Amino acid sequence: MKRWLSLLVIVVGVLLILTTAVLATTAWGSILRIGHMGSDALIAHMAASGVFVTLVPIAAIIIPRWARRNRFSAADSARGPLRLAGLLFWLWLAASWITMATMLSSMVQNLGTTGLITMLSIHRWSGAITVITLVLLTVAGIATRRWREVPAE
Ligand code: HEM
Repeated sequence: MKRWLSLLVIVVGVLLILTTAVLATTAWGSILRIGHMGSDALIAHMAASGVFVTLVPIAAIIIPRWARRNRFSAADSARGPLRLAGLLFWLWLAASWITMATMLSSMVQNLGTTGLITMLSIHRWSGAITVITLVLLTVAGIATRRWREVPAE
C-alpha cells in the first residue's frame, strides 16, 4: 500500500511539473513575444489548466498522507530541511488554489471590467508563486530523500 502511494505521488508530481511547465511557457512565452496570451497559446493554456485543476486536489489529499506514512527520521539535522519542505508544500498549495480561483471566479461571476483585470493581475502573481514554490519543492524533495525511511512492505 505504501509503495503504491509513493508511486502515485511520483506520477502526480511529474504530471504537475509537466502541466505547470506548459501553463508557464504558454503564458509568459506569449507575454514576452506579443505582450499577451492568445490563439494557440491560450488553447494550450486552457487544456493544461484542466489537467492542473484535476491534479491539485489529488496532490492535496495524497501528499500529506504520503508524508505521514513515510515516517521521517527524527535526526536533528533533518528537522529543519523537512519542515522547510512541508512549508513549501503548503505555500505551493495556497498559491495553486488562488491561481485556479481567480480564473474560475472570473468565469462564473459578473465582476465587471475592473474586477476581471484585478483577477488577472492576482492570477499572474499567484501563478508566478506557484511556479517558484513548485521548483523549490522539487529541489527540496530530492535533497531530503536520504532522510526519508524506505517504506516497509
Ligand atoms: C501554474 C499555473 C498557471 C500559471 C503560471 C498561469 C499564468 C498565467 C498568466 C501569466 C496569464 C496572463 C497572460 C496574459 O496576460 O496574456 C494567464 C492567463 C490566463 N490563465 Fe493562467 N496560469 C496558470 C493556471 C491557470 C489555470 C489553472 C487556469 C484555469 C482554471 C488558467 C486560466 C487562464 C486564463 C483563462 C487566462 C487568460 C485571461 C485573460 O487573458 O483574460 N490559468 N495565466
